[in-house]
Amino acid sequence: MVVTVEALFTIVQDLFILPREMVAPIVEGFLEEFKVGLRTPSKGLATMIPSFVTRMPTGNETGTFMSLDLGGTNLRIAAVQLLGDGHVKVSEVKHAITPELRVGTGVAFFDWIADAVQELVLEKARHLFKPDQVSGKETLYLGVCWSFPVDQTAVNHGTILRMGKGIALSDTEGRDLTDMFHEAFDRKGLNVKVNAILNDTVGALVAHAYASPRTRVGFIFATGCNAAYPEKVENIVKLDASVRGQYPAGTEMLLNTEIDIFGNESYLPLNRYDLMLDASHNQPKFQLFEKMMSGAYLGELTRLVALDFIEAGLLFHGDIPKGFEQPWSFPTKYMSALERDATEERHKSLETMMSTYEFDTNPTLEDVSLMTRICRIVSTRSAILCAAAIVALIEQQDLINMSENDIIIGMNGSTYEYYPFMEERVHRALRTWYGYEVSDRIRLEVTHEGGSVGGALIAMLCT
Ligand code: BGC
Repeated sequence: MVVTVEALFTIVQDLFILPREMVAPIVEGFLEEFKVGLRTPSKGLATMIPSFVTRMPTGNETGTFMSLDLGGTNLRIAAVQLLGDGHVKVSEVKHAITPELRVGTGVAFFDWIADAVQELVLEKARHLFKPDQVSGKETLYLGVCWSFPVDQTAVNHGTILRMGKGIALSDTEGRDLTDMFHEAFDRKGLNVKVNAILNDTVGALVAHAYASPRTRVGFIFATGCNAAYPEKVENIVKLDASVRGQYPAGTEMLLNTEIDIFGNESYLPLNRYDLMLDASHNQPKFQLFEKMMSGAYLGELTRLVALDFIEAGLLFHGDIPKGFEQPWSFPTKYMSALERDATEERHKSLETMMSTYEFDTNPTLEDVSLMTRICRIVSTRSAILCAAAIVALIEQQDLINMSENDIIIGMNGSTYEYYPFMEERVHRALRTWYGYEVSDRIRLEVTHEGGSVGGALIAMLCT
């Protein structure tokens, strides 16, 4: 049977489209998971993880503090100068995580981190530290922003869980994160102590609050996705009553929701491409929500859809370009380029494709245009899912009724910041959900340096 581009496109679009009535069960599902997570003790892979951070910055704090930010791609060690009035200056050492380090031993990994700390203190930012701190006579304190699940037991302690993002270190799972740092610092003769561990979402929330003290959500929309918000300690019933009792009534604690691991087949509208991606992943059934929407996965979803168009003879003359058959061979940054190029002549994307894959017959501008349309449906769904998570975080805190003020969300991450039109699409989805009046009160503000500034602020608040 001959199928036309438009007919197949309609079929695929139907699989990705998320009208309001399909978003509602997702928001309800998230709200239910918030409730369950608040009462389920954080053992092993958990959600709604208490950060033990109960203070937010005022914007007036000053001083120089050190932070470490480990994400899926880079390690950054920073000396952060808090200048007051919401201003900061960051001097940092940044290193990419090499393929060898990703699958090596914990000891090698933490030694590599300790070397980078030494590089910052002895070289890059030496002038920012006191001579006694540089010589090791005086202890330097470090706030660690760790963008991986941790079973946090205190503000400066937590058990390392499964890491994800392509990092699988031996001899780390189940170990205390702070101990692993301190052992490496000892091996290198460094007088450095970790005094706070925080998830990147908590970092984004605190960092944004330094500039904008009414911030109520820290949202990361990058390679992975996740969010943090302040919850009343009395609602975090998973904490022992004795722990809850230590805080004055009404105290709020920042919670790392780990919304990335929320969701199951019962309320996430997983389509056949989501299921194919999950089945081919080295951690199936893990982070189902994140796999539908974050930067690590959008390219692969697009590739899987494109393969169906190729098979139907509608794309690339019906031949799979050599290299394109490889899972994960189509990175999300190519999608960004395609969507960005759409306003130009699309030649640049054509060139990129031709230099990446081997074509028997050269692709045409029509091929590029069809690829761009596929990217658009995959990324638009991602924006709607991001909005659904934001809606759930707003509802959980009753922010619309709590005050007349604008609702401030600190947004951080490459997918949100650099994917073309992503910001607008997330806004549009919020407008579809709430209507103009309410959605105009929601301010999605980009927060920069969430990890380093957030880490430094928490190190300071905890010293
Ligand atoms: C991790 C979270 C992190 C998020 C954003 C997820 O894959 O599990 O801990 O906050 O990515 O970086």
